[in-house]
Amino acid sequence: ELAGKSHIRPPLKNVRGVPLKEPIAKNFESVWDFCPDPTDILIATYPKAGTTWTQEIVDLLLHNGDTEACKRSSIVVRSPFLEISNPSPIPSGLDLLCKMSPPRIIKTHLPIQLVPEGFWENKCKVIYVARNAKDSLVSYYHFDRMNVTQCEPGSWENYIQKFMKGELSWGSWYDHVNGYWRERENRNILYLFYEDMKENLQREVERIKQHLDLSVTDDVIAHIAEKTSFEVMKENPMVNYTFRPFLDQSISPFMRKGEVGDWVNHFSASQLEIFDEHYEQQMKMSNIPFRTNL
Ligand code: A3P
Repeated sequence: ELAGKSHIRPPLKNVRGVPLKEPIAKNFESVWDFCPDPTDILIATYPKAGTTWTQEIVDLLLHNGDTEACKRSSIVVRSPFLEISNPSPIPSGLDLLCKMSPPRIIKTHLPIQLVPEGFWENKCKVIYVARNAKDSLVSYYHFDRMNVTQCEPGSWENYIQKFMKGELSWGSWYDHVNGYWRERENRNILYLFYEDMKENLQREVERIKQHLDLSVTDDVIAHIAEKTSFEVMKENPMVNYTFRPFLDQSISPFMRKGEVGDWVNHFSASQLEIFDEHYEQQMKMSNIPFRTNL
């Protein structure tokens, strides 16, 4: 049984204008003070963009494609979630990080302005993964239904409204993707798209390898792409989150569909019209090449 009722369907608290779950907000000052090693790697995403997928790819790259080595523990232990604070006795991200030696693969959903300064000062390698808004929204909705440490999602109709207003945990998708996009060249951020990964995973794994300055052969790159397909990862107990007691995978599996374009099965015509118009407004100054279909 999980202790720490405060982690169950927690309220959101504003941290410098960004809504974060209360347990994260409470600990934010220690997260802000975290100082990474220059060899640490940061994987940053808005929730549901393909974080776990990218974490597994990076761990495999650092282990030259050794799938057994990458089953040494679950993904949450191999690649800690910087800001997360879990129901006891599950360790927080910082608890795990302080026991590991660099290079560490660090996950965050923080928008760029909340990422601890040390990552930029130390010129850590950063990978950002973005996923189109509609598929992110659909995936996040199902995740919030099955994860009791997330806020109550409410109805689908209402969830769309909250997404558009930036009222979900970790804030506005629009600000998040744009914040990292604007800084990608200044701060040497590899900006990846979920849709590109679906289109040609081997090509994107190669780009990650280049960004991380690793020497990994083409054969190993191909092998990593094979072992990180949706089908393989769904069956891998070290990455499919079946190890997490507070996720109810009978409501919706963590590895749910893994597709581009599932949004068509969720939005009504009138919801689409409202969403698209708002999207145009929010993104008109932005030239991020998002794709909602392949
Ligand atoms: P869906 O809910 O659309 O299926 P995150 O790891 O950031 O929480 O993202 C989870 C989303 O990425 C889920 O999307 C999940 O199925 C998908 N995903 C995880 N591994 C994947 C893989 N190897 N290939 C494609 N999609 C994957």
